[in-house]
Amino acid sequence: MASTAHADILTAYDGVEELSSFSTQELAEYRAGLLERTAGQTTFIAERLRPGAAALEVGSGNGRLLIDLARRGAIARGVGLEVAESRVAFAQEWAASSDLDTVRFLCADALTQPYEPAGAALCITGTFAYFDAIQPGGGGTVLAKLCQALPPAGMLVLEIYPHPSWRRLLEETGDGTLRLWHELPPEDPWRFYLSELHLDRDSQILTHRKTFIHRTSGEIDDSRCEHLRLYDGPSVTTALAEAGFGDVDLFGDWTGKPHEPSDELLIAVARAQG
Ligand SMILES: C[S@@+](CC[C@H](N)C(=O)[O-])C[C@H]1O[C@@H](n2cnc3c(N)ncnc32)[C@H](O)[C@@H]1O
Repeated sequence: MASTAHADILTAYDGVEELSSFSTQELAEYRAGLLERTAGQTTFIAERLRPGAAALEVGSGNGRLLIDLARRGAIARGVGLEVAESRVAFAQEWAASSDLDTVRFLCADALTQPYEPAGAALCITGTFAYFDAIQPGGGGTVLAKLCQALPPAGMLVLEIYPHPSWRRLLEETGDGTLRLWHELPPEDPWRFYLSELHLDRDSQILTHRKTFIHRTSGEIDDSRCEHLRLYDGPSVTTALAEAGFGDVDLFGDWTGKPHEPSDELLIAVARAQG
């Protein structure tokens, strides 16, 4: 993979959560915060898993979801695929120091790595939207691989950010380009950031460049860019059907509220059709 989107993902995530940057206490507090943030996602998923399930997660980041599912006894085994080495190392160390030898984290590209058979598949926090940006049709490739890894009726949980308010504004601009300023909370060393958004209407790929301005020095950072496919309820349902999934339920949050087009969150739960 050599696309700009892939290079930008590596820039954004490589080195994130480098273990050497934490003291013992900081690491314990950081992990506790991650578990607190993950609790709603874990509960939602655990309620829908079959007992003794083996889970496969693509874009597993720091491992928080599989680790929380394993420590709660909701999965018998788990494998996470994650492209950023530092995040894989963080997750491996977390699992090892928690005596969770049933979860494994591999440094791998979800687009090219063969998937092990699993009972359930997971892809959360908007990760799925990256795959089409990295490689045209990449989202469909990942969904088809996940479907093949699952047994008939095996569950997939996808969490997507459809950004309906950005989409509405972008559709009103002539060229699909928008600049938005955001002010950060007083405890943040950076005071403002500028979001420069461009939506390619054919591919539905959104390019988002963020530039930060420092609170005291006025320094302007080097900015960072991410590229993601903007999905909504109908387009994700179509992508799931094309990859072999059915029985799709769409939720608007992790409490299980039915999805509405204005929701900033879209959780799709689908079943592999045998
Ligand atoms: C928004 S983060 C979410 C991480 C994790 N799912 C969570 O919820 O904490 C997206 C993650 O996907 C990873 N990622 C992006 N492209 C990937 C790819 N092609 N293969 C594997 N991981 C990828 C990134 O490195 C990043 O850690």
